[in-house]
Amino acid sequence: KMPFHIIEGDITKLDTDAIVNAANNTLLGGGGVDGAIHRAAGPQLLQECRTLNGCETGDAKITDAYNLPSKKVIHTVGPVWYGGTENEPELLKSCYQKSLELAKENGLNSIAFPLISSGIYGYPKDKALKIATDTIKEFLEDNEMDVYLVIFDQKSFQIDRDLKEDLSEYINENYVKGPKVRLKQNPNLSETIVGFEDAYLRELNCLAPVSTFSISEDLSDRIGNREDSFSELLLKKIDEAHMTDPECYKRANIDRRLFSKIKNNKDYCPSKETAIALALSLELSLEETNDLLERAGYTLSKNKLSDVIIQYFIDNKIFNIFQINEALFYYDQKLLGA
Ligand code: APR
Repeated sequence: KMPFHIIEGDITKLDTDAIVNAANNTLLGGGGVDGAIHRAAGPQLLQECRTLNGCETGDAKITDAYNLPSKKVIHTVGPVWYGGTENEPELLKSCYQKSLELAKENGLNSIAFPLISSGIYGYPKDKALKIATDTIKEFLEDNEMDVYLVIFDQKSFQIDRDLKEDLSEYINENYVKGPKVRLKQNPNLSETIVGFEDAYLRELNCLAPVSTFSISEDLSDRIGNREDSFSELLLKKIDEAHMTDPECYKRANIDRRLFSKIKNNKDYCPSKETAIALALSLELSLEETNDLLERAGYTLSKNKLSDVIIQYFIDNKIFNIFQINEALFYYDQKLLGA
């Protein structure tokens, strides 16, 4: 699993340990996500909120979740956007920090945020998104928690304007909308050959964890000692970059358990998203990235939109996975990490 997810959906449906409510200072309900949460939780939520004596802007308070699938609701009050001169960025950052601290103090392992202040309070969505992802990223550098940012309507999702223009230009120049070539399995091949061929391909291209295939000894001899596996080359690159393991997997937005699986099993085959995320965490050039990816049987191509987007960021030496994931989310592509 990846520690930080951006997903589309309705936060009142999520069964994370906590969901965060974008409330107002009275904590007595309202429209937007506040209204949706109170409707789904039922009247007992309002009863408990009445006992809290309101909430300062930038602060957060916790209640039970009643009829909601989550365990707790963390109510936080974002700043109204007045143009950015009234301390809005610091107050908005504080909403995420205080909510995350409260979740941690209450021993919660997962939390879902709406994009606070970006609705009725008028905070520009791209600026609200940047504060959300930067603050969550900082928290995840020192803490282990599954954090979800829930985008209610993906269409209205905004990323940085300059980035959007630059990226769409790059895509127009580089993305080859080729026909989806599907490798047709030749039905005439007898089962054994397909099995053998498939197994051979898997061994060579690491299409699946080798541990699921018992390749006969002579075949593995004939393959000989291939160059480093994905895992071996990854560990060499981490050493070369003088990075610690936690620095690597946190930057790659993958969790510690998955990283140790990759580290401890030299033939482990990660998903393409995980392999790319790890390559980006090492800030590799495009050539080095493709060299590392091919050990897991992957490459960055021109006819996959998500690959072209990732090549844009490598070309521009932007290796921040969270920022890249915002762009991938904007283009409705799979996110990077586990
Ligand atoms: N799930 C997830 N996100 C949602 C949902 C939902 N069910 N409903 C709305 N949102 C999104 C909106 O699209 C917006 O991006 O939540 C974000 C925050 O919007 P608002 O709910 O309007 O919250 P905010 O901008 O912080 O304004 C707070 O609105 O509801 C009142 O009482 C609240 O006065 C307070 C003000």
